[in-house]
Amino acid sequence: LALTVATTGGNASSPILYGFMFEDINHSGDGGIHGQLLRNNGFQGTNPGLTAWGAVGAVTLAVDTAHPLTTALPRVLRVTVPSGATGQVGFSNAGYWGIPVKKDTYACYFWVEGTYSGAVTVKLTSAAAGGTVFGSKVVNIVSVSTKWTYYETTFTATAAPNGNNIFVVTFDAAKVAGGSIYFNLPQLFPVTYHTRYNGLNPDIAGVLENIGGSFLRFPGGNNLEGATVASRWKWNETIGPVETRPGRQGDWGYANTDALGLLEYLYWSEDMGLIPILGVWAGLSLGGGVVTGAALQPYIQDALNEIEYVIGATTTTYGALRASHGRAAPFNLKHVEIGNEDFLSGGLASYAARFTAFHDAIKAKYPGLIIISSTDQGLPNPKPAGMWIDIHYYLTPDQFVARFNTYDNYDRKYGIFVGEYACTKSNTGATNPWPTLVGAVAEAVFMIGIERNSDVVKMAAYAPLMQHLNSTQWTPDLIGYTSDPSLLTLSTSYYVQQMFSVNRGTTILPVTSDTKFGPAYWVASRNDSTGTYYVKMANYGATAVSTTVRIAGATSGTVTTLTGPGSNSINMPKNALVLPVTTAITGSGGSFTLTLPAWSVVVVAVK
Ligand code: AHR
Repeated sequence: LALTVATTGGNASSPILYGFMFEDINHSGDGGIHGQLLRNNGFQGTNPGLTAWGAVGAVTLAVDTAHPLTTALPRVLRVTVPSGATGQVGFSNAGYWGIPVKKDTYACYFWVEGTYSGAVTVKLTSAAAGGTVFGSKVVNIVSVSTKWTYYETTFTATAAPNGNNIFVVTFDAAKVAGGSIYFNLPQLFPVTYHTRYNGLNPDIAGVLENIGGSFLRFPGGNNLEGATVASRWKWNETIGPVETRPGRQGDWGYANTDALGLLEYLYWSEDMGLIPILGVWAGLSLGGGVVTGAALQPYIQDALNEIEYVIGATTTTYGALRASHGRAAPFNLKHVEIGNEDFLSGGLASYAARFTAFHDAIKAKYPGLIIISSTDQGLPNPKPAGMWIDIHYYLTPDQFVARFNTYDNYDRKYGIFVGEYACTKSNTGATNPWPTLVGAVAEAVFMIGIERNSDVVKMAAYAPLMQHLNSTQWTPDLIGYTSDPSLLTLSTSYYVQQMFSVNRGTTILPVTSDTKFGPAYWVASRNDSTGTYYVKMANYGATAVSTTVRIAGATSGTVTTLTGPGSNSINMPKNALVLPVTTAITGSGGSFTLTLPAWSVVVVAVK
């Protein structure tokens, strides 16, 4: 294969081409990227029971509704101590299938009600009976029966050998014997990403940041929509102090605490240098019908209020509310998406009208915002000028390769957002538990097609992003983890995303070749500020391809190669993982010689 990259001409590439789609699925939020480590800590969702809680000593635990912490959190933990009891008793929380315990400083918050004066001990231990204590702290409290009292503390811990750990709270049984004491909303955080209060898990946020994305679409995905209209994601119930957030039964079979709420998504975007792409609820619920016509008006107003919370001046009602939550400056919101996959669940017939109603109301108040439809189906005719269109692809590797040229002759009047895509199945139709190398190469072929057309394709995001391996509703995902930080696993698709994101040019350059596309595919670009040329290539075939890349004036740089055999999964020994390998490359008279191994993704970066 001989490629010659032109050093003039070409099209401007979208500066925000690669980024992230996030929703709470697979415990990607609670138990994932959100930093709080205790599960079911506010008894939210439809049927929380005592999931994750355990008695310590001879006490009885129950979910109590006679002592609400707030109207948002009516259920609390009752700890009943038998008469005559002595010694230390209390409760434990097992976190999200264990607690990652690192050498770190942990912040711990909890609420207590009931008559008690004296020491309460909080600690992190292994789950085994009489288990190793990794860190603890004694907090002297004065609790009364007439109101809830809030406590905060910090303590240091040493690293645990695995994730099989619990959080334990104990107190002096003799002081409560024959009675009960109540606890709610214990929270436990490691030092968070960017040390934010109520912030992100730094390990998971860190690997996400390393991809080098440009945007964050949130909060869904299906998790925006609700099983019913009443159980939709409600932005105004995800803001303010966490004890005022009721949480909800999420759309992926588990309770969402909503401690990772609208403001936290916006801080996440800002801290990671991502542009927020805000999905607003647009009348469609997954199983509870569609709101249309005049009945939609309150929800349109709700979306306007939400946008005002994000970008309104502090003189506005919701801008002032944001300021009261500690954030006076508006966020950098430029894109709003109307719903999610509105062609599903009976939404198609009404989407044109619903989209138009949201679009027109938002544009009337915020003309500078770009409005994105959640599908390319059922759109108004004609479509409003300047709108963008979100299209999703969950396909086999061969199907992705067949869509390489999807955008070559596409209507350039409207921006495209490939808001979700992934190789979900093998070519034989088997569902992939983890991204495979062949699938990752096929995604790269599709992404090359996107990048070649990144004048019209403005953004693209792999989905879903991550999975807790103890509670997975959707595979494959980019990142997998458990409560043991050493098992954090980055898939082959993760590395393709990273290779494409960090090696981005500003201008897509014409390329001439001696061969047609397939099995090798390519795209070339240049960063016009730094002068670096990027040539991304994928070999979707079982035979290596000897390649020459000619770029006049370029002398040296690097070549990064991702190739097999195999694919990454949590069970693989670390030394067998498929990782990108970067080596130096030197040209001769602007000509670079390299090999595209079988089933590989290769990026040349030279100047
Ligand atoms: O990414 C998983 C799901 O796929 C999303 O929630 C939904 O938008 C799509 O159907």
